[in-house]
Amino acid sequence: MVTKRILKIALAATYLFCISGVVSQDIPSLKELFKNDFLIGAALNISQITEKDPVEDALIRRQFNSVTPENIMKAEHMQPRWNEYNFEPSDQLVAYARKNNMKVNGHALIWHSQLPPFMRQMKDKDSVRSFFVNHINTIAARYDGKIDSWDVVNEALEEDGTLRKSIFWEKLGEDYIVEAFRLAQKAAPNTKLYYNDYNIEQPKKRAGAIAIIKKIQAAGVRIDGVGIQGHWRSYDMPLKNIEESVKEFAALGVEVMFTELDLGVLPNPWDGNSAELSKTSEGSARMNPYTAGLPDSVAQTQAKAYADLFKLFLKYRQYITRITFWGVGDGHSWLNGWPIRGRTNYPLLFDRQLQPKPAFFSVVATGK
Ligand code: XIL
Repeated sequence: MVTKRILKIALAATYLFCISGVVSQDIPSLKELFKNDFLIGAALNISQITEKDPVEDALIRRQFNSVTPENIMKAEHMQPRWNEYNFEPSDQLVAYARKNNMKVNGHALIWHSQLPPFMRQMKDKDSVRSFFVNHINTIAARYDGKIDSWDVVNEALEEDGTLRKSIFWEKLGEDYIVEAFRLAQKAAPNTKLYYNDYNIEQPKKRAGAIAIIKKIQAAGVRIDGVGIQGHWRSYDMPLKNIEESVKEFAALGVEVMFTELDLGVLPNPWDGNSAELSKTSEGSARMNPYTAGLPDSVAQTQAKAYADLFKLFLKYRQYITRITFWGVGDGHSWLNGWPIRGRTNYPLLFDRQLQPKPAFFSVVATGK
């Protein structure tokens, strides 16, 4: 009986070793390849943080030296009810990162999205202010010295570069961003503080981000860096704007990071009038064309897009401190569910079986 069980366990272990061996040992390691250039990160979900899948865990440990929690440090998870905090998942993240020698970027202290239900309807200014102050103070202080950095404010801008009319803007006024950094600086003196947003490579929104950074600096408050999220599409890369942004942000004396990189391959519902089309069945097939697999030509376009991007990152390596992918394998990417639910997208470097894609090898080629 006992020998049978031991045999079974040994077989399972060999099997796991073999598959994880294919992925994790036989291919180059991005964190090694770029170790003199920038950190290589991934956004991880709770099952990855708690090492549910040993094969995936081996891949994560081999490839990444930085981690951003995909959801667990957002306000709805950290403070699900008024003044009731749930630290356990974040503590697990800290332990996981420490064990694996990875940096942690906290994401995110102040953001209009994924707020706890009690916040969403809040009308009273004083209550919003108490939430704002207590949330930052409690969480930033608890993780100071345990994590490396915070996205202090996430997505505060509209596309035209003006401030987003979020609950924080509405109830606290436009200085809330400087205030958030001031509070974070006090509560977390040993933690780097970043502003993070999408599309801030685009000229108008970039100007808005520059204005935010300058305003924080002019107030004598610390801001250490800016994160360009990098949710782009493989067939439509804004390379020129990305390059301009790196230069302009770097000129402000802050670190530049690419914090949520994924290059989707599916049509964008906001191009032309395809949004309406997506609601019809003909439209949805058109909006979800690769359910049977990623065609080679599309994989190649994506591989080239990733290579172009990494060449640019390397060109500005003295300013760029971290590249974080928003996920590990295509199967768990948020882009399968957004902006249209139930699609089959392929935005990352590893496929649904966690095997490296052409995009992985094209990125590797830039590092050699
Ligand atoms: C996404 C997560 O990936 C999803 O799991 C979640 O349902 C919604 O949020 N910009 C951000 C991230 O700053 O926090 C978002 O993450 C993606 C867009």
